[in-house]
Amino acid sequence: MTLWQARLSGAPDPTLLAFTESLSFDRALAPFDLEGSRAHVAGLEAAGLLDAEEAGALRRALDTVGAELRAGTFSPAPGDEDIHTAVERRVTELAGEVGARLHTGRSRNDQVATDQRLFVRAGLAEVSEGLVGLASTLLRRAEEAGDAYLPGYTHLQRAQPVPLAHHLLAHGWALLRDLERCLDVRRRTGVSPLGAGALAGSSLPLQPAVVAEALGLDRHFENSLDAVADRDFAAEALFVLALVGVHLSRQGEEVVLWSTTEFGFLGLDDAFATGSSMLPQKKNPDIAELARGKVGRLVGDLVAVLTTLKGLPLAYNRDLQEVTEPLLDATATVTKALAALAGLWGTARFELERMRAAADDPASAAVDLAEWLVARGMPFRRAHAVVASVVRRAGAEGIGLADAVASEPSLGAPALGILEAGAAVQRRRTPGGAGPAAVASQLDAFRSRLATLAEAAARA
Ligand code: ARG
Repeated sequence: MTLWQARLSGAPDPTLLAFTESLSFDRALAPFDLEGSRAHVAGLEAAGLLDAEEAGALRRALDTVGAELRAGTFSPAPGDEDIHTAVERRVTELAGEVGARLHTGRSRNDQVATDQRLFVRAGLAEVSEGLVGLASTLLRRAEEAGDAYLPGYTHLQRAQPVPLAHHLLAHGWALLRDLERCLDVRRRTGVSPLGAGALAGSSLPLQPAVVAEALGLDRHFENSLDAVADRDFAAEALFVLALVGVHLSRQGEEVVLWSTTEFGFLGLDDAFATGSSMLPQKKNPDIAELARGKVGRLVGDLVAVLTTLKGLPLAYNRDLQEVTEPLLDATATVTKALAALAGLWGTARFELERMRAAADDPASAAVDLAEWLVARGMPFRRAHAVVASVVRRAGAEGIGLADAVASEPSLGAPALGILEAGAAVQRRRTPGGAGPAAVASQLDAFRSRLATLAEAAARA
């Protein structure tokens, strides 16, 4: 029996329920649905619409349903269209008569909006924890990296050497901004829709503020139509999740490159690598590839929800049911990706010798040679031309860059020190740049920003 059967003659066609049901996936919202129902009971009691005994009976039944769901003994009945219907049906079986009072002043429209908001808040809390974990791992690896350096790339061509710590923290800062975004969306999502009813509130003396407080939220809706119709919080959460995915995909791509024989910058721990079913010698970076690959679905989840919302008239429309699956999918995907990448980065072996050898290519110090000339008064554009012609001459004559520099009058022997292994990194002095002093203070700044955000995430 569906909740609305009394309005229609006969039973719904099985194809209707097969197409429109959501219990198969919104079962995942059960803990939040129960939380919403408990808060609603508190509101009805405060409004004098339930006496203490009735409220107690409903609470006990809700607890039992929760226990059944957790134990896996909850069995859906035919006509349980969605989690809201299923819970109310079971509460009524358990509590008898009084079960019929649970839905007073409530609609599945404000219920599902509540469930989705509570889910987003819990999901973003979990993702925040994952972000803290991965950022901490990158920080630890950066601290351990000491003065190791590798080539920095632009256009994937060797550009200038950079400390490994600097490279790892570049990924880390992106995650800290994601963490801020999670906290921000989480706060904005903390608005209770309960009391909005189907769309217009109710003639009964409902108490949205009491309900919001019972949910641990500090605000309730300002407009009942908005409360049941908008899913902007879901779109925002999905954007943040997609962006985390994009950041992880960039890490993934570098792990894939770095672990190739050609680069040889990184060796994966066996527990975070996979083998090949056919090629016995293979050790593959599947975590990194899926971190790169799954972002397609994450962006898809965001686009799916934006597309569903576009053009929907106020207020609730069944289309909004389509918001739940992308939320479930994106949250689970990002949570798992964060944990797997933290494990990968935490255990990977950095091949510091390979990195250093690649970065010690003297050509990577070309701009430092030009800056050496600038420090001696030459305009940069001329210095650039001088060094470029030296590099070109070395290539054309098949001689080493050092020889070409030595025989260039404006450079000569005094400039040769610049080409020495490791010299270029040591010379950097821009705050926030890739020099030793800046990286040391960056490590401090990162550590303290991470601690502040981790604390805010734990409090949220
Ligand atoms: N399963 C529905 C959803 O997720 C619940 C709300 C149904 N409301 C309605 N008026 N049919 O959106």
